[in-house]
Amino acid sequence: MRNIQTILVKSNDPAVFSTVSQALSEVEGFRIIFCEDDKSALRRLNEVDVDLILCDLAANVSEKDNALIRSRLTHASCARIIAFERDAMDEGIAMFERTASFMYLVKPFDAKLVKIVVKRALEHTELARRHRILSRELKLSLDDKIFEREPGGSVAGGISQFERLVYASPKMAELVEEAKIAARTNMPILIQGETGTGKELLARAIHFNSARMNSPMHSQNCGGVADDALHSELFGHVRGGFPGAISDRLGLFRAADKGTVFLDEVSEISPQFQIALLRFLQEGEVKPLGSDKVLSSDVRIISASNKSLEKLVEQGRFRRDLYYRLRGFMLEIPPLRERPEDIPVLTQFFVEKYAGVVGRRVLGVTSEVLKQLESYPFSGNVRELETEVQRMVAVAEQGGYIALRHLSDKIRRVTVPEDRQAGWMPEGATLKEKVESLEKMLLSRELAEHHWNQSRVAEKLGLSRVGLANKIRRYGLRRDASHA
Ligand SMILES: Nc1ncnc2c1ncn2[C@@H]1O[C@H](COP(=O)(O)OP(=O)(O)OP(=O)(O)O)[C@@H](O)[C@H]1O
Ligand SMILES: [Mg+2]
Repeated sequence: MRNIQTILVKSNDPAVFSTVSQALSEVEGFRIIFCEDDKSALRRLNEVDVDLILCDLAANVSEKDNALIRSRLTHASCARIIAFERDAMDEGIAMFERTASFMYLVKPFDAKLVKIVVKRALEHTELARRHRILSRELKLSLDDKIFEREPGGSVAGGISQFERLVYASPKMAELVEEAKIAARTNMPILIQGETGTGKELLARAIHFNSARMNSPMHSQNCGGVADDALHSELFGHVRGGFPGAISDRLGLFRAADKGTVFLDEVSEISPQFQIALLRFLQEGEVKPLGSDKVLSSDVRIISASNKSLEKLVEQGRFRRDLYYRLRGFMLEIPPLRERPEDIPVLTQFFVEKYAGVVGRRVLGVTSEVLKQLESYPFSGNVRELETEVQRMVAVAEQGGYIALRHLSDKIRRVTVPEDRQAGWMPEGATLKEKVESLEKMLLSRELAEHHWNQSRVAEKLGLSRVGLANKIRRYGLRRDASHA
């Protein structure tokens, strides 16, 4: 469950901005994104998960550019509220109907009203979301003679929204390309990576970019769960199927029919459960605990592990046949320290994410802060970076930049390697200069990594050999000067 809800406010009326800020400033758990026009609102809608849009009625905006009209198609489950002046009543109500908005507000409105309407609208969308999941489960269970009672309800895990994966590194770009190919197939996918590298986020991205996107994705954490409990969560159970089973339960495999099941920490399942899972992967058969009936379900399994399953197989702790089944596609997310190019974009993304929380305006981080962050070997990976940025945003001064003094001690104390000290982002440089110094840094890093094998580097970066040679000459890169 996400705990922060995002509200996008599109208006060029300062009174609307201040009323909304005032309304939601004491309420925790909201971030507000303000946009002055439809164009920027549409851009933000594509960048972040938005739960509610509050739009001022726009004059002179074409349908194609109208954020409220467009959001109805692209963000159907997002709540919409429309605001307009009293003398635009007819036009406003027509737009309200047309966009299936939750409520309209006639300007000027007060903060109390905004607070109530926003809360109600968010409750309404959450209920609609649960209703969709439950009615799907109910329909499945009614189709199914053995479930005579109410389904046990397995909303846990639920359908989560697709948050964008943010990256700039060639390593992640390559991984995302592989993930896109994998998404288009029906094969099981195994995602490996250290803790906090974004395995779950990638799994969701795959689901929402697959043909299964309109069916549910359910998640199950397999770590530290007893066999019986895991079996009933995934395969379901009938009443009395095991001690304490007081009602039937529709397992996640059936609840996610035509969708995806995400098995987190799959390395932790017992040898017995490995057999059950293997059978499911081979036959697609689901046998609820305590039932003789064999049912079927069509789900794609995406599993994740922060341990190497291959090593566990070698040690005889994980079945080889199951391992091969799970890794139809194998995606390995590199640790953050191996892709420092992602640190600036992730940092900016998290600054905006957390600064959006009511009342905080933070402009960004200074280049010194970035250098420290890029030099720190985040063992908790993106999650650790995210927590650090969240904390810095909270302590930074209103309207200022995040500076060295806001960093936690352990990060401020790391020594920045010389090649980074040189400053690939010169202060006060023009955009062109910044882009060039970034290009220079990326090229020298790739060349070093591939021991100056220019064909390999050219291929990897999508350049011709001549193109690469030109760039090497232009930036004066030399083999002995690299840090290989
Ligand atoms: N590329 C990315 N872009 C944006 N956010 C990211 C990215 N990678 C990770 N995150 C964020 O980092 C946090 C950790 O990600 P996630 O939970 O997917 O990691 P995980 O690999 O499943 O971790 P664990 O092994 O500990 O379960 C989440 O808040 C996620 O949104
Ligand atoms: Mg995880």
